[in-house]
Amino acid sequence: MDRTTPVVPAADIQRQKEYCQELRALNAQKPAPPRAYVDTYGCQQNEADSELLRGMLWDMGYQIADTDQGADVIVINTCAIREHAEQRVFGNVGALVHGKRKNPAQIVCLCGCMAQEPHVAERLRKTYRHVDLVFGPQALWRFPELLRRVYLRRGRVFETAPDDGAIAEGLPVRRSGKLKAWVSIMYGCNNFCTYCIVPYTRGRERSREPEIILDEIRSLAEQGYKDITLLGQNVNSYGRDLEGGWDFPRLLEAAAGIPGEFLLRFMTSHPKDATERLFDVMAACEKVAPAIHLPFQSGNDRVLAAMNRRYTREQYLDKVRLLRERLPHVVLTSDVIVGFPGETTPEFEDTLSLIEAVRFDALFTFIYSPRKGTPAAELPDPMSKQEKSANFDRLVAAQNRISLEKHRSYIGTVQRCLIDGAGEDPRNSLTARTAGGRLVHLSGGSALIGQFADVKIAGCSTWALFGELT
Ligand code: SAH
Ligand code: SF4
Ligand code: F3S
Repeated sequence: MDRTTPVVPAADIQRQKEYCQELRALNAQKPAPPRAYVDTYGCQQNEADSELLRGMLWDMGYQIADTDQGADVIVINTCAIREHAEQRVFGNVGALVHGKRKNPAQIVCLCGCMAQEPHVAERLRKTYRHVDLVFGPQALWRFPELLRRVYLRRGRVFETAPDDGAIAEGLPVRRSGKLKAWVSIMYGCNNFCTYCIVPYTRGRERSREPEIILDEIRSLAEQGYKDITLLGQNVNSYGRDLEGGWDFPRLLEAAAGIPGEFLLRFMTSHPKDATERLFDVMAACEKVAPAIHLPFQSGNDRVLAAMNRRYTREQYLDKVRLLRERLPHVVLTSDVIVGFPGETTPEFEDTLSLIEAVRFDALFTFIYSPRKGTPAAELPDPMSKQEKSANFDRLVAAQNRISLEKHRSYIGTVQRCLIDGAGEDPRNSLTARTAGGRLVHLSGGSALIGQFADVKIAGCSTWALFGELT
């Protein structure tokens, strides 16, 4: 198959596997197996990347620890999406200096989106001298080589040059769950929304081969995974760089044809590329969860244009109408930014009126955070923090009311749910998810975990449903 996306040659992946074996042999000489801890910030894409890092560490002979206490290798997989996320990382990385003082042989690594920001790499180089290895998301597949370099030379390694990225297949993976799995179908983003750092940290859009993705899903289904989420910054642009006419609806339909009892989810969908064909496939395929995360960001056309979102409020509302025509009970969630530079309170009120018109099941609300190097960070931003917070609070209050109203409408219905874990409250010993992805608390024996069951919904809060087994 001809393609425009660069693919890492199999021989280069093989070399990484050899580095793993070399480190494994060195680690085997230690009195006790060394331990590695991977800490993850940010989105599901980072969670999926951390599962690859753990797979590589395991192959290198490390036990996977669930705390940094006493770990021989610590990997912090970071997120750069908002200032707050970065501050948390700097705080936590700073605190690691004490552990390193006690154990100077400890190796501290920082990877993920922050590593790809030049000012962050510079700060780490100058002031966080206990960090040994820094590498961006596009260098992830070379982690064994980079770690080996630190290990053998005991020098600091920075692999943070700008990198558009290539597709690396065949990396080992250690998944965190037995029921839910992530499958990256593509990497990177070409949309350049003016507030967003992701296109700078994750490189250009590139799609994995459909056959490889479908094989991975087949194998997950055979292993008993019940809830599989296809990941990409904008899954709706899947396949644009592939030959053979593949696009996301076709991939989703093919995935839904794989035998087994499982549900397919996907995130995220850019509204400009969500098509009628996607909604038709969702409606036709029982295995595709009736849920979509469709970020709208703002309800005001001037702000949407300044964000470079490339749709209008009306176009967004039309998409939602079309979606609900095909899937009347779809669970619809979204992201929204309050306080984009220059947004006025009347413009913000268009966002409020949009959520009243759409009535999302849940909303992820963010206050705009300037990201160095993005166009929006250069715009005048006259609104005070207090005013932005007041708007934010109004939005959250409106959405909480809507979420509660939506949850109330479930009461008395029977929902087919996946029982996915133990609950924290003894009265509700289990947690479950509806097909649409809403959280349900219920009581029952732990033997039910991993099964689909009919649950009668008896109560609710803003954030969850309460039910009983039928
Ligand atoms: N690719 C996904 C979004 C990834 S980021 C998509 O396009 O839907 C997740 C969310 O973080 C975005 O939808 C946006 O609402 C929010 N976000 C991104 N950059 C931000 C910034 N600079 N400040 C505040 N919120 C931001
Ligand atoms: Fe960021 Fe926009 Fe790309 Fe999403 S689509 S990752 S918000 S640039
Ligand atoms: Fe954060 Fe990078 Fe994901 S910035 S949200 S970890 S793509």
